[in-house]
Amino acid sequence: MADNGTVDLRLDQAHSARMYDYYLGGTTNFPADREAAGKALAAFPSILATARINRRFLQRSTRFLAEQGMTQFFDVGTGIPTSPNLHEVAQEVTPSARVVYTDNDPIVLAHARALLHSHAEGRTAYAHADVTDPADLLATAEISETLDFTRPIALSLNALLHFITDDRVDGGAHSIVEHFKAALPSGSTLTITHVTPDFDPEGIARLTGAYRAAGTPGQARQHADIVRLFDGWDLLDPGVVPTHRWRPTPEDQAENVTDAEAACYAGIARKP
Ligand SMILES: C[S@@+](CC[C@H](N)C(=O)[O-])C[C@H]1O[C@@H](n2cnc3c(N)ncnc32)[C@H](O)[C@@H]1O
Repeated sequence: MADNGTVDLRLDQAHSARMYDYYLGGTTNFPADREAAGKALAAFPSILATARINRRFLQRSTRFLAEQGMTQFFDVGTGIPTSPNLHEVAQEVTPSARVVYTDNDPIVLAHARALLHSHAEGRTAYAHADVTDPADLLATAEISETLDFTRPIALSLNALLHFITDDRVDGGAHSIVEHFKAALPSGSTLTITHVTPDFDPEGIARLTGAYRAAGTPGQARQHADIVRLFDGWDLLDPGVVPTHRWRPTPEDQAENVTDAEAACYAGIARKP
């Protein structure tokens, strides 16, 4: 954000949040985003399915966690609002659930109002923050005013960490995740989805190449590397699996998605 409080949306540059919005059929994207998304689509035609399947996991896993009794949700790398958003799913199960969203993209900040409309009893907040500085992010007032860090919190890092290349932060994506894990109390959960090259290495290499060319470097990670993000926490069944295989509903199963189309792993673990 600029010093005078205005937001520079940099509409001349493609942004990952707006490219993802385009894949999901949203309207919060601009010519530079659509041009870059078109190149990503040419490189990896399944990207539309990948995004849709990831979003379905997000909704399914949020419902699962709310039904398991989680009442506080902390979503980092939220993206542009796409209904149903996480707080809508959580507060449908538990109307008093509290939700904090964060993202570092000014366009998400500009649309955050759509994320803040809560059920009467619940509460949602938005914090503009960068995950590469987790200490700074966790110090944000909106987070401490909304979430109680002495009670379990459901942290989600969905389709985010593949934008954190290991050369970008000391210790890479793993050190960021460890910082969050240390800040959360026992009983908290960690949900992650992450792009992998495991099922279509060439397609994913083309996809990361298209993103790099659009100014957004990324790093797809293999299964063992993604499992390591959960180290020390108890992985819930069925473990770290392609997104569409994580406790699918009959409706999900009817879609007959392939692992290569899903292109992401998903997992949820609980802090002992
Ligand atoms: C592909 S979208 C995923 C949105 C949502 N989590 C989902 O799974 O549907 C990735 C989001 O991560 C955000 N992001 C990327 N780098 C980030 C960073 N360093 N700090 C915070 N958010 C970031 C982007 O702005 C974008 O909104």
